[in-house]
Amino acid sequence: MGLTLWRNAGLVTLDGSAPWGLIGRGALLVDDAALQWVGPEADLPRGLSIDGEVDLGGRLVTPGLVDCHTHLVYGGDRAREFELRLQGATYEEIARAGGGIRSTVASTRAASGEELFEAARRRALALMAEGVTTLEIKSGYGLALEHEARMLRTARRLGRELSLTVRATCLAAHALPPEFDGRADDYIDAVCTWLPVLQAEGLVDAVDAFCDRIGFTPSQTRRVFEAARALGLPVKLHAEQLSDQGGAQLAAQYGALSCDHLEYLNDDGVAAMARAGAVAVLLPGAFYFLRETRLPPVERLRAAGVPIAVATDHNPGSSPTLSPLLMLNMACTLFRLTPEETLRGMTVTAARALGLVDRGRLVAGQRADFAVWDLEHPCELAYRFGGGNPCRRVIVAGTQRKS
Ligand code: NIG
Ligand code: FE
Repeated sequence: MGLTLWRNAGLVTLDGSAPWGLIGRGALLVDDAALQWVGPEADLPRGLSIDGEVDLGGRLVTPGLVDCHTHLVYGGDRAREFELRLQGATYEEIARAGGGIRSTVASTRAASGEELFEAARRRALALMAEGVTTLEIKSGYGLALEHEARMLRTARRLGRELSLTVRATCLAAHALPPEFDGRADDYIDAVCTWLPVLQAEGLVDAVDAFCDRIGFTPSQTRRVFEAARALGLPVKLHAEQLSDQGGAQLAAQYGALSCDHLEYLNDDGVAAMARAGAVAVLLPGAFYFLRETRLPPVERLRAAGVPIAVATDHNPGSSPTLSPLLMLNMACTLFRLTPEETLRGMTVTAARALGLVDRGRLVAGQRADFAVWDLEHPCELAYRFGGGNPCRRVIVAGTQRKS
Protein backbone atom coordinates (compact mmCIF):
# COMPACT_ATOMS: atom_id res chain seq x y z
CA MET A 1 0.00 0.00 0.00
CA GLY A 2 2.88 2.37 0.78
CA LEU A 3 2.50 5.97 1.82
CA THR A 4 -0.85 7.74 1.29
CA LEU A 5 -1.44 11.45 1.83
CA TRP A 6 -4.93 12.51 2.91
CA ARG A 7 -4.99 16.26 2.57
CA ASN A 8 -7.16 19.37 2.67
CA ALA A 9 -9.10 18.34 5.78
CA GLY A 10 -10.21 19.82 9.10
CA LEU A 11 -8.55 17.45 11.56
CA VAL A 12 -10.26 16.74 14.87
CA THR A 13 -7.18 15.17 16.44
CA LEU A 14 -8.38 15.18 20.09
CA ASP A 15 -4.74 15.76 20.92
CA GLY A 16 -2.91 18.77 22.34
CA SER A 17 -4.43 21.70 24.18
CA ALA A 18 -6.54 23.37 21.45
CA PRO A 19 -10.30 22.67 21.70
CA TRP A 20 -10.98 19.38 19.93
CA GLY A 21 -7.27 19.31 18.97
CA LEU A 22 -8.49 21.04 15.81
CA ILE A 23 -6.09 21.62 12.90
CA GLY A 24 -7.67 23.88 10.29
CA ARG A 25 -6.17 22.79 6.99
CA GLY A 26 -4.54 19.56 7.90
CA ALA A 27 -3.07 16.45 6.37
CA LEU A 28 -2.58 12.85 7.42
CA LEU A 29 0.20 10.67 6.16
CA VAL A 30 -0.70 7.01 6.36
CA ASP A 31 1.91 4.32 6.12
CA ASP A 32 0.00 1.07 5.57
CA ALA A 33 -2.16 0.69 8.66
CA ALA A 34 -0.75 3.49 10.83
CA LEU A 35 -0.72 7.28 10.96
CA GLN A 36 2.84 8.31 10.21
CA TRP A 37 2.45 12.06 10.37
CA VAL A 38 -0.41 14.41 11.31
CA GLY A 39 -0.35 18.20 11.11
CA PRO A 40 -1.08 21.38 9.18
CA GLU A 41 -0.66 20.80 5.47
CA ALA A 42 1.79 23.71 5.28
CA ASP A 43 4.16 21.82 7.60
CA LEU A 44 4.25 18.58 5.60
CA PRO A 45 7.77 17.17 5.57
CA ARG A 46 9.50 17.76 2.23
CA GLY A 47 10.91 15.16 -0.10
CA LEU A 48 8.46 12.39 0.73
CA SER A 49 7.81 9.75 -1.86
CA ILE A 50 4.05 9.45 -1.75
CA ASP A 51 2.24 6.56 -3.44
CA GLY A 52 -1.26 8.00 -3.35
CA GLU A 53 -2.99 11.27 -2.55
CA VAL A 54 -6.60 12.03 -1.59
CA ASP A 55 -8.03 15.57 -1.49
CA LEU A 56 -10.75 15.62 1.18
CA GLY A 57 -12.18 18.91 -0.04
CA GLY A 58 -12.03 20.65 3.34
CA ARG A 59 -14.17 18.02 5.07
CA LEU A 60 -13.80 17.13 8.75
CA VAL A 61 -11.82 14.09 9.82
CA THR A 62 -12.25 12.49 13.24
CA PRO A 63 -10.84 9.32 14.72
CA GLY A 64 -13.04 6.33 13.89
CA LEU A 65 -15.80 5.94 16.46
CA VAL A 66 -15.45 3.27 19.13
CA ASP A 67 -18.71 1.78 20.39
CA CYS A 68 -17.46 0.21 23.62
CA HIS A 69 -20.69 -1.35 24.93
CA THR A 70 -23.13 -3.34 22.79
CA HIS A 71 -25.16 -6.53 22.92
CA LEU A 72 -25.29 -6.82 19.14
CA VAL A 73 -25.80 -10.56 18.72
CA TYR A 74 -29.28 -11.84 19.54
CA GLY A 75 -32.44 -13.33 18.10
CA GLY A 76 -35.88 -11.71 18.02
CA ASP A 77 -36.86 -8.30 19.34
CA ARG A 78 -38.76 -6.87 22.32
CA ALA A 79 -41.19 -4.45 20.69
CA ARG A 80 -44.10 -6.02 22.56
CA GLU A 81 -42.32 -5.43 25.84
CA PHE A 82 -41.92 -1.77 24.89
CA GLU A 83 -45.70 -1.63 24.52
CA LEU A 84 -46.16 -3.23 27.95
CA ARG A 85 -43.82 -0.74 29.54
CA LEU A 86 -45.80 2.10 28.02
CA GLN A 87 -48.89 0.62 29.61
CA GLY A 88 -47.21 0.85 33.00
CA ALA A 89 -45.14 -2.30 33.54
CA THR A 90 -41.55 -1.62 34.60
CA TYR A 91 -38.40 -3.16 33.09
CA GLU A 92 -37.83 -4.91 36.40
CA GLU A 93 -41.39 -6.29 36.64
CA ILE A 94 -41.20 -7.67 33.12
CA ALA A 95 -37.86 -9.32 33.92
CA ARG A 96 -39.23 -10.86 37.14
CA ALA A 97 -42.22 -12.25 35.21
CA GLY A 98 -39.83 -14.18 32.96
CA GLY A 99 -39.75 -11.67 30.09
CA GLY A 100 -36.97 -9.22 29.48
CA ILE A 101 -33.51 -10.71 29.00
CA ARG A 102 -34.97 -14.23 29.32
CA SER A 103 -37.24 -13.76 26.34
CA THR A 104 -34.23 -12.73 24.24
CA VAL A 105 -32.37 -15.78 25.57
CA ALA A 106 -35.16 -18.01 24.24
CA SER A 107 -35.13 -16.40 20.78
CA THR A 108 -31.33 -16.39 20.65
CA ARG A 109 -31.13 -20.08 21.49
CA ALA A 110 -33.82 -20.81 18.88
CA ALA A 111 -32.09 -18.89 16.07
CA SER A 112 -29.78 -20.72 13.65
CA GLY A 113 -26.12 -19.72 13.53
CA GLU A 114 -26.67 -18.10 10.13
CA GLU A 115 -29.69 -16.14 11.35
CA LEU A 116 -27.75 -14.85 14.34
CA PHE A 117 -24.84 -13.84 12.16
CA GLU A 118 -26.94 -12.19 9.47
CA ALA A 119 -28.99 -10.12 11.93
CA ALA A 120 -25.85 -9.01 13.79
CA ARG A 121 -24.10 -8.21 10.51
CA ARG A 122 -26.90 -5.88 9.47
CA ARG A 123 -26.77 -4.11 12.82
CA ALA A 124 -23.00 -3.79 12.66
CA LEU A 125 -23.27 -2.27 9.17
CA ALA A 126 -25.67 0.37 10.50
CA LEU A 127 -23.22 1.36 13.25
CA MET A 128 -20.34 1.33 10.79
CA ALA A 129 -22.22 3.66 8.44
CA GLU A 130 -22.03 6.34 11.16
CA GLY A 131 -18.28 5.99 11.51
CA VAL A 132 -17.75 3.09 13.91
CA THR A 133 -14.42 1.35 13.38
CA THR A 134 -14.14 -0.53 16.69
CA LEU A 135 -17.05 -2.36 18.28
CA GLU A 136 -17.44 -4.27 21.51
CA ILE A 137 -19.96 -7.11 21.52
CA LYS A 138 -21.12 -8.91 24.65
CA SER A 139 -22.53 -12.40 24.96
CA GLY A 140 -25.19 -12.87 27.62
CA TYR A 141 -28.23 -14.08 25.70
CA GLY A 142 -27.00 -17.68 25.55
CA LEU A 143 -26.56 -18.42 29.27
CA ALA A 144 -25.42 -21.98 28.54
CA LEU A 145 -21.87 -22.84 27.52
CA GLU A 146 -22.78 -23.90 24.00
CA HIS A 147 -24.96 -20.82 23.40
CA GLU A 148 -22.55 -18.33 24.95
CA ALA A 149 -19.83 -19.83 22.73
CA ARG A 150 -22.05 -19.45 19.69
CA MET A 151 -22.64 -15.77 20.43
CA LEU A 152 -18.95 -15.10 20.94
CA ARG A 153 -18.03 -16.99 17.76
CA THR A 154 -20.55 -14.84 15.92
CA ALA A 155 -18.83 -11.73 17.30
CA ARG A 156 -15.43 -13.06 16.19
CA ARG A 157 -16.78 -13.85 12.72
CA LEU A 158 -18.08 -10.27 12.38
CA GLY A 159 -14.55 -9.08 13.17
CA ARG A 160 -13.13 -11.33 10.46
CA GLU A 161 -15.66 -10.57 7.74
CA LEU A 162 -16.34 -6.87 8.24
CA SER A 163 -13.99 -3.94 8.02
CA LEU A 164 -13.72 -3.12 11.73
CA THR A 165 -12.19 -4.35 14.99
CA VAL A 166 -14.49 -6.40 17.21
CA ARG A 167 -13.77 -6.96 20.91
CA ALA A 168 -15.71 -9.83 22.46
CA THR A 169 -16.85 -9.70 26.09
CA CYS A 170 -18.25 -12.67 27.97
CA LEU A 171 -21.38 -11.61 29.84
CA ALA A 172 -22.58 -15.09 30.87
CA ALA A 173 -23.47 -13.54 34.27
CA HIS A 174 -26.19 -11.42 32.67
CA ALA A 175 -29.32 -13.17 33.97
CA LEU A 176 -30.34 -16.48 35.46
CA PRO A 177 -31.40 -18.97 32.79
CA PRO A 178 -34.64 -20.92 33.49
CA GLU A 179 -32.83 -24.23 34.01
CA PHE A 180 -31.08 -22.71 37.05
CA ASP A 181 -34.23 -21.18 38.61
CA GLY A 182 -33.69 -20.65 42.33
CA ARG A 183 -30.05 -21.74 42.01
CA ALA A 184 -28.15 -18.57 41.20
CA ASP A 185 -25.03 -19.69 43.07
CA ASP A 186 -24.92 -22.93 41.10
CA TYR A 187 -25.24 -20.93 37.90
CA ILE A 188 -22.30 -18.75 38.90
CA ASP A 189 -20.28 -21.93 39.62
CA ALA A 190 -21.11 -23.07 36.08
CA VAL A 191 -20.12 -19.71 34.57
CA CYS A 192 -16.77 -19.92 36.35
CA THR A 193 -16.12 -23.30 34.72
CA TRP A 194 -17.11 -21.98 31.26
CA LEU A 195 -14.70 -19.07 31.26
CA PRO A 196 -11.51 -21.14 30.79
CA VAL A 197 -13.19 -23.13 28.02
CA LEU A 198 -14.28 -19.98 26.18
CA GLN A 199 -10.91 -18.37 26.70
CA ALA A 200 -9.08 -21.47 25.42
CA GLU A 201 -11.03 -21.09 22.17
CA GLY A 202 -9.84 -17.49 21.93
CA LEU A 203 -13.35 -16.08 22.34
CA VAL A 204 -12.93 -13.70 25.26
CA ASP A 205 -11.25 -10.29 25.49
CA ALA A 206 -12.96 -9.25 28.74
CA VAL A 207 -15.50 -10.45 31.29
CA ASP A 208 -18.63 -8.52 32.30
CA ALA A 209 -21.53 -9.14 34.69
CA PHE A 210 -24.86 -7.55 35.58
CA CYS A 211 -24.77 -6.68 39.27
CA ASP A 212 -28.28 -5.60 40.24
CA ARG A 213 -31.50 -6.74 41.90
CA ILE A 214 -32.54 -8.59 38.73
CA GLY A 215 -28.97 -9.61 37.94
CA PHE A 216 -26.41 -11.01 40.36
CA THR A 217 -25.35 -10.01 43.86
CA PRO A 218 -22.00 -8.41 44.60
CA SER A 219 -20.71 -11.67 46.10
CA GLN A 220 -21.74 -13.64 43.00
CA THR A 221 -20.17 -10.96 40.83
CA ARG A 222 -17.00 -11.20 42.89
CA ARG A 223 -16.75 -14.92 42.11
CA VAL A 224 -16.99 -14.23 38.39
CA PHE A 225 -14.27 -11.59 38.74
CA GLU A 226 -12.05 -14.04 40.67
CA ALA A 227 -12.41 -16.55 37.84
CA ALA A 228 -11.57 -13.84 35.29
CA ARG A 229 -8.56 -12.72 37.30
CA ALA A 230 -7.26 -16.30 37.51
CA LEU A 231 -7.30 -16.36 33.70
CA GLY A 232 -5.69 -12.93 33.38
CA LEU A 233 -8.84 -11.50 31.77
CA PRO A 234 -9.83 -7.86 32.39
CA VAL A 235 -13.25 -7.16 33.86
CA LYS A 236 -15.99 -4.56 33.43
CA LEU A 237 -19.42 -4.28 35.03
CA HIS A 238 -23.04 -3.31 34.41
CA ALA A 239 -23.07 -1.36 37.66
CA GLU A 240 -25.59 0.79 39.49
CA GLN A 241 -28.06 0.80 36.58
CA LEU A 242 -31.31 0.22 38.49
CA SER A 243 -30.08 0.37 42.09
CA ASP A 244 -26.94 1.02 44.11
CA GLN A 245 -25.26 -2.31 44.83
CA GLY A 246 -21.74 -1.02 45.43
CA GLY A 247 -20.83 -2.71 42.17
CA ALA A 248 -18.46 0.02 41.10
CA GLN A 249 -16.39 -0.33 44.29
CA LEU A 250 -16.23 -4.07 43.74
CA ALA A 251 -15.24 -3.72 40.09
CA ALA A 252 -12.59 -1.15 41.05
CA GLN A 253 -11.02 -3.70 43.40
CA TYR A 254 -10.50 -5.91 40.38
CA GLY A 255 -8.96 -3.11 38.32
CA ALA A 256 -12.01 -2.93 36.04
CA LEU A 257 -11.53 -1.37 32.63
CA SER A 258 -14.95 0.24 32.99
CA CYS A 259 -18.16 0.46 34.99
CA ASP A 260 -21.18 1.03 32.78
CA HIS A 261 -24.60 2.73 33.25
CA LEU A 262 -23.98 4.22 36.76
CA GLU A 263 -27.21 6.16 37.29
CA TYR A 264 -27.24 5.06 40.96
CA LEU A 265 -23.48 5.43 41.55
CA ASN A 266 -22.62 6.83 45.00
CA ASP A 267 -19.65 8.97 46.10
CA ASP A 268 -17.61 6.00 47.31
CA GLY A 269 -18.10 4.40 43.92
CA VAL A 270 -16.89 7.55 42.17
CA ALA A 271 -13.80 7.66 44.40
CA ALA A 272 -13.07 3.96 43.91
CA MET A 273 -13.34 4.31 40.13
CA ALA A 274 -11.03 7.33 40.18
CA ARG A 275 -8.42 5.42 42.19
CA ALA A 276 -8.63 2.39 39.91
CA GLY A 277 -8.58 4.44 36.70
CA ALA A 278 -11.83 2.78 35.59
CA VAL A 279 -13.74 4.43 32.76
CA ALA A 280 -17.36 5.47 33.38
CA VAL A 281 -19.32 4.31 30.33
CA LEU A 282 -22.54 6.33 30.11
CA LEU A 283 -25.41 4.89 28.10
CA PRO A 284 -27.98 7.57 27.28
CA GLY A 285 -29.96 5.22 25.03
CA ALA A 286 -30.89 2.94 27.95
CA PHE A 287 -31.57 5.94 30.20
CA TYR A 288 -33.93 7.36 27.61
CA PHE A 289 -35.65 4.16 26.54
CA LEU A 290 -36.30 2.96 30.11
CA ARG A 291 -37.52 6.47 30.93
CA GLU A 292 -35.07 6.59 33.82
CA THR A 293 -35.14 9.83 35.77
CA ARG A 294 -32.08 9.43 37.95
CA LEU A 295 -29.05 10.93 36.22
CA PRO A 296 -25.55 9.50 36.39
CA PRO A 297 -23.38 11.77 38.60
CA VAL A 298 -21.58 13.49 35.75
CA GLU A 299 -20.38 16.47 37.81
CA ARG A 300 -18.89 14.23 40.46
CA LEU A 301 -17.24 11.97 37.90
CA ARG A 302 -15.68 15.01 36.26
CA ALA A 303 -14.54 16.47 39.57
CA ALA A 304 -12.90 13.17 40.52
CA GLY A 305 -11.18 12.90 37.14
CA VAL A 306 -12.96 9.70 36.10
CA PRO A 307 -12.74 9.38 32.31
CA ILE A 308 -16.18 9.34 30.71
CA ALA A 309 -17.11 7.27 27.67
CA VAL A 310 -20.39 7.09 25.76
CA ALA A 311 -21.77 4.03 23.95
CA THR A 312 -24.95 2.82 22.28
CA ASP A 313 -25.57 -0.20 24.57
CA HIS A 314 -27.40 -1.56 21.52
CA ASN A 315 -29.67 -4.37 22.74
CA PRO A 316 -33.30 -5.34 22.12
CA GLY A 317 -34.58 -4.56 25.63
CA SER A 318 -33.19 -1.30 26.95
CA SER A 319 -31.53 0.43 23.99
CA PRO A 320 -32.55 -0.70 20.51
CA THR A 321 -30.69 2.14 18.80
CA LEU A 322 -28.21 1.74 15.98
CA SER A 323 -27.14 5.37 15.92
CA PRO A 324 -23.92 6.32 17.69
CA LEU A 325 -24.44 9.93 16.59
CA LEU A 326 -27.82 10.03 18.32
CA MET A 327 -26.03 8.88 21.49
CA LEU A 328 -23.62 11.82 21.20
CA ASN A 329 -26.61 14.13 21.02
CA MET A 330 -28.41 12.48 23.93
CA ALA A 331 -25.27 12.49 26.08
CA CYS A 332 -25.36 16.29 25.70
CA THR A 333 -29.08 16.89 26.07
CA LEU A 334 -29.81 14.29 28.77
CA PHE A 335 -26.51 14.07 30.68
CA ARG A 336 -25.14 17.57 30.02
CA LEU A 337 -21.84 16.39 28.59
CA THR A 338 -20.21 18.90 26.27
CA PRO A 339 -20.11 18.00 22.57
CA GLU A 340 -16.32 17.62 22.82
CA GLU A 341 -16.63 15.34 25.86
CA THR A 342 -19.04 13.12 23.94
CA LEU A 343 -16.70 12.74 20.98
CA ARG A 344 -13.76 11.97 23.25
CA GLY A 345 -16.14 9.60 25.01
CA MET A 346 -16.83 7.69 21.83
CA THR A 347 -13.23 7.62 20.61
CA VAL A 348 -10.17 7.80 22.83
CA THR A 349 -11.93 7.12 26.14
CA ALA A 350 -14.09 4.36 24.69
CA ALA A 351 -10.92 2.71 23.39
CA ARG A 352 -9.51 2.89 26.90
CA ALA A 353 -12.66 1.20 28.23
CA LEU A 354 -11.68 -1.70 25.97
CA GLY A 355 -8.04 -1.65 27.05
CA LEU A 356 -6.95 -0.28 23.66
CA VAL A 357 -4.40 2.55 23.53
CA ASP A 358 -3.54 2.37 19.84
CA ARG A 359 -6.60 4.29 18.59
CA GLY A 360 -9.02 7.10 19.32
CA ARG A 361 -6.87 10.12 18.42
CA LEU A 362 -5.32 11.38 15.20
CA VAL A 363 -1.70 11.18 16.30
CA ALA A 364 1.38 9.71 14.63
CA GLY A 365 1.79 6.09 15.65
CA GLN A 366 -1.94 5.41 16.13
CA ARG A 367 -3.90 3.07 13.90
CA ALA A 368 -5.14 4.79 10.76
CA ASP A 369 -8.84 4.45 11.68
CA PHE A 370 -10.68 7.62 10.78
CA ALA A 371 -13.98 8.97 9.50
CA VAL A 372 -14.62 11.79 7.03
CA TRP A 373 -17.68 13.95 7.67
CA ASP A 374 -19.58 16.44 5.59
CA LEU A 375 -19.60 18.95 8.44
CA GLU A 376 -18.06 22.34 9.11
CA HIS A 377 -17.40 21.99 12.82
CA PRO A 378 -17.18 18.93 15.12
CA CYS A 379 -19.93 20.38 17.34
CA GLU A 380 -22.34 19.34 14.61
CA LEU A 381 -21.67 15.66 15.34
CA ALA A 382 -23.62 16.02 18.59
CA TYR A 383 -25.92 18.80 17.40
CA ARG A 384 -27.87 16.97 14.71
CA PHE A 385 -30.10 14.06 15.58
CA GLY A 386 -32.22 11.54 13.79
CA GLY A 387 -31.21 10.97 10.20
CA GLY A 388 -29.18 12.63 7.48
CA ASN A 389 -25.98 10.70 8.15
CA PRO A 390 -23.08 13.10 7.43
CA CYS A 391 -20.41 10.35 7.34
CA ARG A 392 -18.85 10.25 3.88
CA ARG A 393 -15.93 7.84 4.12
CA VAL A 394 -14.48 5.50 6.69
CA ILE A 395 -10.87 4.39 6.68
CA VAL A 396 -9.90 1.33 8.69
CA ALA A 397 -6.25 0.49 9.23
CA GLY A 398 -5.38 2.74 6.30
CA THR A 399 -7.84 1.23 3.84
CA GLN A 400 -11.03 2.95 2.75
CA ARG A 401 -14.04 0.83 3.55
CA LYS A 402 -16.23 -0.03 0.58
CA SER A 403 -19.73 1.32 1.05
O1 NIG B 1 -27.20 -2.89 29.23
N1 NIG B 1 -28.92 -4.31 32.16
C1 NIG B 1 -28.57 -5.29 31.59
N2 NIG B 1 -28.29 -5.45 30.31
C2 NIG B 1 -28.70 -4.67 29.23
C3 NIG B 1 -30.13 -4.89 28.85
C4 NIG B 1 -30.34 -6.23 28.35
C5 NIG B 1 -31.75 -6.49 27.90
O2 NIG B 1 -32.72 -5.91 28.40
O3 NIG B 1 -31.86 -7.36 27.02
C6 NIG B 1 -28.36 -3.20 29.37
O4 NIG B 1 -29.24 -2.34 29.64
FE1 FE C 1 -25.50 -3.31 28.45
